Amino acid sequence: MSEQAIGVFDSGLGGLTAVKELVKVLPQENIIYFGDTARVPYGNRSRETIIKYAEQDAGFLLSKGVKMIIAACGTVSSNALELPDTLPVPFTGVIVPTAAAAANATRNGRIGVIGTSATINSGAYKNEILARNNRIKVYQQDCPLFVSLVESGFISEKDEIVRLVVERYLCDMKKEKIDTLIMGCTHFPIIAKAISDYLGDNVTLIDSGRETALYAAHLLSKNNLLNTANKIGSCRYYVSDTVESFEKTAEIFLDKSVEGKVSHISIEQVAL
Ligand code: DGL
Repeated sequence: MSEQAIGVFDSGLGGLTAVKELVKVLPQENIIYFGDTARVPYGNRSRETIIKYAEQDAGFLLSKGVKMIIAACGTVSSNALELPDTLPVPFTGVIVPTAAAAANATRNGRIGVIGTSATINSGAYKNEILARNNRIKVYQQDCPLFVSLVESGFISEKDEIVRLVVERYLCDMKKEKIDTLIMGCTHFPIIAKAISDYLGDNVTLIDSGRETALYAAHLLSKNNLLNTANKIGSCRYYVSDTVESFEKTAEIFLDKSVEGKVSHISIEQVAL
């Protein structure tokens, strides 16, 4: 069992923020990643559609025999709340570990949350933070264009378009003097440098992909599912749209080539 892969999914490139961290903390693990690039973005869709897509994505990973599933997607984690109950393997989404990290990190009790519209409308991060400490003030802002920027490869902090969009979305939050910001969509850490340049060094950025990867490592250990093989694990990527554009941005972000490791699948066929 322990040599089976960890399954990670997202609507597109965002879940790579969790993969990047998983590879660091658990180098011996095999990882199977699915990015539903044909249907990205999820964040402006209805709850029913998000649930349907999430079930199909998890179903695809299960068909690959994974030992655990990570929904490395804020939108899925905050809307497909019943998904874990339907799975035969351990599961984690991003909300609980990320909210816990933010509640621990804040010094002035003012936390910002950014995510997709579906995530912000669900109130999931806010509720989770307040359940931990109801004196914390939570400021929320949806930033749907960040997903499009990342998926289109506009990720440099030097890019004027990236800087302008960051400023437009975050100017109100900056005025609220938050000291901690949850990047509640896993796509957002890919433009973390631009976000941090705008908000300044005194704001701690919480990376939902990173926190979730750390939590997943804990969960694997708790379930006795750690891969104890004495060799570096492999990563295999599947996407529902073209391989080329995913490869290009994934490489910039992961700092290594994923060429030859990415395959196209038709998620509709898998779902039938
Ligand atoms: N990366 C995803 C999230 O964490 C999804 C973004 C989207 O598809 O809109 O919310």
